[in-house]
Parts: sequence; C-alpha cells; structure tokens
Amino acid sequence: MQITQAHPLFAAELRGLDLPHPQDAETLDAIRAALATYGVVVIKDQDALDDDGQIAFSRAFGKLQTSISLHREDTARRVKRAELTDLSNVDADGKRIGADDTRRKLQLPGRLWHSDNSFRSPPGLYTFLHARVVPPEGGNTDFADMRAAYDALDEAMKLRLAGLKALHTLAWSREQVGAPPLSLQEAQNIPESVQPLIRVHPTTGRRSLYLSSHASHIDGMDLAEGRALLAELNAFATQAAFVYAHVWTAGDLVIWDNRCTMHRATPFPEEKYHRDMRRTSVEDTQAAVAA
Ligand code: OGA
Ligand code: MN
Repeated sequence: MQITQAHPLFAAELRGLDLPHPQDAETLDAIRAALATYGVVVIKDQDALDDDGQIAFSRAFGKLQTSISLHREDTARRVKRAELTDLSNVDADGKRIGADDTRRKLQLPGRLWHSDNSFRSPPGLYTFLHARVVPPEGGNTDFADMRAAYDALDEAMKLRLAGLKALHTLAWSREQVGAPPLSLQEAQNIPESVQPLIRVHPTTGRRSLYLSSHASHIDGMDLAEGRALLAELNAFATQAAFVYAHVWTAGDLVIWDNRCTMHRATPFPEEKYHRDMRRTSVEDTQAAVAA
C-alpha cells in the first residue's frame, strides 16, 4: 500500500489495494492508522467494488448504521440494502431525477458543511463513499480539517468552548436548505442528539472542533447567541487553508473520520450528467470524548 498526502494538513491517497477481496488484519490496521493520521483517505481504483463488497469492507471498521431514507414513506429506494445510502441523481430505471424530486431535495443538506449522522446517537464515526459514476464537471466533495481549525483558535475561544455541547437535529439542516421537514415517521425514528463542541481523538489524542450544519443551538445558551457562535465557528473552521477539495474519479472509495472532519457536496449540472454515489457508515461506539 502506497500513501501520498493530498493536502498540506490532512487527507491522503492510498494505492495498491484490491477491496473486493477480504483484507488481512495488517492491511486493515494500516488503513485505520492512515485514517487517524490523515482524517480522510482516498482509496484509488476500486472499480470492481459492488454493494455487497462495500458493505463487507465497511463492516471491518465497526457497526454499520442503516440509511435514514428507510424512515421516509414517500420515496422509493433504488438500492435495496438497508446499510446503503443512495446519494445519486438516478432512479431505479437509470434515468436522471430532477432537482424538484423529493429524493434530490432530501439530499440538499449535504451541500452544507456537516459531520455525518451528528444528529444520531451514537453519531457517525467513519463514512465510506464510493463513486460509481461521476460528472465531468462539478460534484466535488470538500473536506475541512477540524483538528487544524481547533489548533488555530485563540486561547480565549478554546476556554469559552470547553465543556459546551450542541443540540443536533436533521430538522435544522433540512430547514436551512428548504428541504422537506421531518415526516412523522422520521421524527419518531430520528431523534435529536446532544454532542460536545470539542472532541479528543481516542487514537491520536488531538482535539478537534465538532461542528455540523445539523447543530441547531448550544445547550443552555440563548438560541440566537448559540446560532451566532456556531455560524462564527463554521466560517472559521472552513476557511480555505483547512479545506481539501476532492475531485472524484469513478472507482474512488473515500473514507473519512467524522469526529475530526467536516465535508460538503458541491453542485454540478444535474440536468446534464449522472452522478452515482453510494455511502455506508459505521457508528461511533466510543462515547464522545469531551475535552
Ligand atoms: C451527504 C454528503 C457528499 C457528496 O449527502 O451526506 O456528504 O459528495 N454527500 O455527495
Ligand atoms: Mn455527508
């Protein structure tokens, strides 16, 4: 396995892996170590990976989360496995779905900076996103290093944030992008969660900001004041120096650690091109480590 760093602060490309085949313990440990160091790893050339292979590989890293789309009554699922989240603009017949389709609207919160499943308890740990078909322009995924963002805060802000918690809910990120509100079934099955604003990585000991567009307000703080603080932190943490823009090649499998990175999807000409991306995620089994 060859590792090439992709950005001055974080993110790396891994080459020489063949994922449809089970990986030995040593290789899995090397991938886990790369994730701890780089936060985001891009495993190149995995064109042969299919739904079952992606699920089997992801499972080696923890307990799989099921897709929240299972709780939506008004949308048909194209992929059949409950562990897969479909982040595509194509339907079961391979036709492109329009931007006004409910399935596309439900994907819109992904355009805001976030940490996957931060609104669930336990939240997301690693996400695995596999590119089956990518558009020739646009449709990047941007990543931001929340360890570098934490390190760059001034001491007064670090002190102010210590011990603070944020309330995360999918209802808030949906509201910000004008996506459909939570259905009754979603509201019953996807409750809000409370997460620390600062986390300590259990492997590296590094502190990071734990932000997400699902974070609605700060626990115990006036709503407007909390939202203003979250907006200020989001802007600070996603400044250009902390961002790696991943330009996809079909066959890339990107894995990231949601405890110490944020990400967002970027737009592309949806009416012209297919984009077929499939996601698996494992849950964070360790209790969030508040600083
Ligand atoms: C998401 C997401 C990234 C992408 O929907 O959670 O992060 O590039 N998507 O599609
Ligand atoms: Mn995401």
